[in-house]
Amino acid sequence: MEIFKQIAPFQAYLKDAKLAGKTVGLVPTMGALHKGHISLVETSKAHNSLTVATIYVNPTQFNNPADLQKYPKTLDKDVALLEKVGCDALFCPDNEEMYDHPSMLKFDFGQLDKVMEGEFRPGHFSGVALVVSKLFNIVQPHQAYFGQKDWQQFAIIRALVDELKFDLVLHSVPTMREADGLAMSSRNLRLSESQRQHADVLFRALTQAKEALVQGQEVRVVKKMVADMVNNEPEMKLEYFEVADRKNLTSLTNVKDASPAILCIAAFAGEVRLIDNLFVG
Ligand code: PAJ
Repeated sequence: MEIFKQIAPFQAYLKDAKLAGKTVGLVPTMGALHKGHISLVETSKAHNSLTVATIYVNPTQFNNPADLQKYPKTLDKDVALLEKVGCDALFCPDNEEMYDHPSMLKFDFGQLDKVMEGEFRPGHFSGVALVVSKLFNIVQPHQAYFGQKDWQQFAIIRALVDELKFDLVLHSVPTMREADGLAMSSRNLRLSESQRQHADVLFRALTQAKEALVQGQEVRVVKKMVADMVNNEPEMKLEYFEVADRKNLTSLTNVKDASPAILCIAAFAGEVRLIDNLFVG
């Protein structure tokens, strides 16, 4: 695997590959890679003749400085995993390369970045949109791959691509889970043994909520059930549970509304903030 820390040689490499007729798939990550990230790389490899992963812990998307500082960094292990899956190139720039001067750009996605993650992590999606725009411009991929686990992020990146006319095809890849249903996440590395045991309540709550809603239970009642389930679990604290329209993320009062729904949850396991979601319909 070719590894680049600087934009110029990376772009020269990509230019040659494109001139040779290769199609480029991009998988942006912040590292501490797990099977979820690897499934994005595998999907890209199935669609493209060249797959590029990026590892960059983007400071502008962290609203909580402690979270940025504690973000796990496992570069050697990440490189080994990417080599094993057959990723062609890795771009892992430092802050000077990505932000050679402080950015003044701010993004506003209207409703999309005001609800759920947007409400609890002010500025987060503006930072995501900024770094993803930089990566799209640097790589100019034919296709780009994101996980369903961060569905709101995907909805926002889709709006970004539409609005700025990025010439690429976006893909959302299903969430990879541990045996007990916990969504794989780099943050899981920070869970204590006992927090890890209780953290599966997110998926259990989502699954039970989905069942109840499909059987016609009221959203109001299901919200209370989820809150009780999560908050009664030791060390767990619910931040939000939403039943939303999958496309525009507006809150739904029942899942039989015209468009398909998504159930989104965020909760703390001790100090570690976890998110997950499940499609309904
Ligand atoms: P990160 O959290 O590293 O995630 C990188 C990509 O992997 C995202 O598209 C995310 O949705 C996907 N992913 C994470 N866990 C997954 C799982 N269990 N199954 C499937 N896919 C999963 O998301 C980011 O980084 C950043 O915000 C980024 C887009 C790189 C911009 O900085």
